[in-house]
Amino acid sequence: MTNIHLPDVNVTMALVTSLQASLPDFSRIVDQLGHPSPALRKLGLVHWENGRFETAARTFEAALSLTLDDPDLWRDLASVYSASDRDEQALTAIRTALELNPHSARSWQALASIADRLDDAETAEEAYRRTVALDPKAPAAHLGLGLLLFRKKQYQEALAAVRNSVALDPVNGLAHFALGHLCFITCDFAGCARAFDEATQLTLELDPPTRKKRARALTFQTMIEGRVREALRNYNEIAGEDCEDLDIIVRDAFSVLSASGHLEAAAEIGRMRLAQEPDDPVRRYLLDAVLGRSMTAAPAEYIETYFDQFAPQFDSKLLTTLRYDGPRQMTKLVAGHRTGFNHMLDLGCGTGLASEELLRLGPTLIGVDISSGMLTEAEKRGGYTELVKSEAVAYLEATPSRFDLIFAADSLIYFGDLGPILRAAADAMVQGGLFALSIEVVAGDGFILQPSGRFAHAPEYLKAVASDFTILETLEGNIRLEAGRPVAGLYVIMERR
Ligand SMILES: C[S@@+](CC[C@H](N)C(=O)[O-])C[C@H]1O[C@@H](n2cnc3c(N)ncnc32)[C@H](O)[C@@H]1O
Repeated sequence: MTNIHLPDVNVTMALVTSLQASLPDFSRIVDQLGHPSPALRKLGLVHWENGRFETAARTFEAALSLTLDDPDLWRDLASVYSASDRDEQALTAIRTALELNPHSARSWQALASIADRLDDAETAEEAYRRTVALDPKAPAAHLGLGLLLFRKKQYQEALAAVRNSVALDPVNGLAHFALGHLCFITCDFAGCARAFDEATQLTLELDPPTRKKRARALTFQTMIEGRVREALRNYNEIAGEDCEDLDIIVRDAFSVLSASGHLEAAAEIGRMRLAQEPDDPVRRYLLDAVLGRSMTAAPAEYIETYFDQFAPQFDSKLLTTLRYDGPRQMTKLVAGHRTGFNHMLDLGCGTGLASEELLRLGPTLIGVDISSGMLTEAEKRGGYTELVKSEAVAYLEATPSRFDLIFAADSLIYFGDLGPILRAAADAMVQGGLFALSIEVVAGDGFILQPSGRFAHAPEYLKAVASDFTILETLEGNIRLEAGRPVAGLYVIMERR
């Protein structure tokens, strides 16, 4: 306990004497309780309640000098240290409280709040979980846990925790506010609007971005209920001064409703969007995907247009909003098998998110992508020996190179039938070379085009079609988030036979 100095007992007793002389109430409490320590604690609490944190801390320290093994006193001291930004001391004090009594929900809750304030998410999460395990009826701990998981983008679990908090303490406006945002992210639009309205009634005036979200939620909900045109007609009135461009609302409604499985509404919006721009390959393909039309690969025109438009925001959207971590996961798997490659190919390299880690595995790295917008971003990032604008299968069939590593992170999801690309890849590799890839997974033994426009493959299908390769390792993982939920995928390392 290096950073907390308790006063000498004689100094404390001198303080007690002087307090007894000057504060009759204090003197009476000492007489009633038969010991000065609880009286000092009561006095400390009064200072704390009145915002005199330093004086409260000194008073608790004095009480502790008389009863060193009182866990509640240590917790009080921790809380006033924390309130006066003495973070390290707060941590020492609360850990001492927990050593003395590890079964106190209030002490775990105090540790959680202190750690949360210090951005130590790991300690805070563990402490919130201990709190609710010891006291399942602690609404603040459920809320703290929910907000923390919200920041970690674990939306489903965050939603459950915040719902618990709301059920236990229905008059906390902040909990309803958080619930509204979580409902929106997880596409419960009716729940979102209800929660924001509750928050407004209780305490909170909604800020403009939240009011926009509420208007979107009401609009999307009406669309889900089958009234797309009515929703669009009413949007401006619902949003009032917060209204956004209607084309943006329509575009976002299409992607949100298709991602959350409201395919009829999405299809109606998709048809409206295509009618506005019949030659737009993105609108056409995504409508086809929502309608469940069968296809063997995404059309090149779609990929090119879509990723050219997306390229400037790709990194921030994928890494931050969607928690995409494919390149790092896959390079780690590859390195577990082999390093020191001579000739590596990043197939569908995009903005080059994998380049830095791939260059640790070998000196020569070619990047191939069909989208010039994505290649421009990859060029800015640097590191590639060469960047080539080409369709993937066409490149593999034409190149005279023989690669000892082909790396396809999140790019085979644009192919349904994997036969042509796997055969072309096999022909462009040396025997014993590795092929690292990721897929989104579907049950069964084939592949499907999903409403997102990406394909999902059954692991059995991949195994059957990869006849030129030996599968060395597969790892299940969440590829990214979609509609607030993780998308199940598979990372695969195969060896060219
Ligand atoms: C989701 S991004 C992934 C980019 C990168 N591999 C990563 O992990 O960040 C998919 C990339 O594959 C490219 N792509 C998709 N189909 C392709 C094809 N048939 N030929 C070449 N590139 C393709 C897209 O242009 C896009 O850059």
